[in-house]
Amino acid sequence: MAVTQPTLTALDVMRDAPVIPVIVLHDVRHAVPMARALVAGGIRMLEVTLRTPQALECMRAIAAEVPDAVVGAGTVRTSADAVAAARAGARFAVSPGFTPAVGRACRDAGLPLLPGVATGSEIMTAQEEGFFALKFFPAVQAGGTAMLKAWQGPFGDVAFCPTGGIQPGNAAEFLALKNVACVGGSWLVPADALEQGDWSRITRLAREASALQRV
Ligand code: 3PG
Repeated sequence: MAVTQPTLTALDVMRDAPVIPVIVLHDVRHAVPMARALVAGGIRMLEVTLRTPQALECMRAIAAEVPDAVVGAGTVRTSADAVAAARAGARFAVSPGFTPAVGRACRDAGLPLLPGVATGSEIMTAQEEGFFALKFFPAVQAGGTAMLKAWQGPFGDVAFCPTGGIQPGNAAEFLALKNVACVGGSWLVPADALEQGDWSRITRLAREASALQRV
């Protein structure tokens, strides 16, 4: 009998760990050891951004060789990005903004999407298209925790993943909010750690991030 994988939802992606790492990879040789280092530190949902020519190849490598990781595509801005990411083995998508076309393309490609929003109108547009688990981007620059608190009234049905400007020093303030399911950030995978092959540093950063408390 065929075994079907349970369907992953955007909320599953957000709830797996307190932090979703935002990853920029320039060298496919870094992809697998980096993914293993994050998994060793308790972080499985990995957002590999479509910002480099190597990004899709890196996703393919992680999907093929690190079964405990769930690779996702970040910086998804077009329908073509969504299709390419799904073909490369991505299992979720994150976008810096939202358009209904990108939302539909991700749905058609079977990718749960965390759409980026920064205003009430953008939240309403995403909700009209059926999205209730949203990325708040760029979080610190667009109003930070004060903005999230203001949205708790009118948008109490939304779970947010604030991303942009979040670091170990301020992550806890965000994670203490009831409408924050997790945060996103690039600090777990520093460029110099990749260059130096310092996988133990990435595991240490992931372990510290995994230990952050959520409400
Ligand atoms: C990004 O898109 O680069 C993310 O928002 C990460 O932002 P950060 O580097 O401030 O964590």
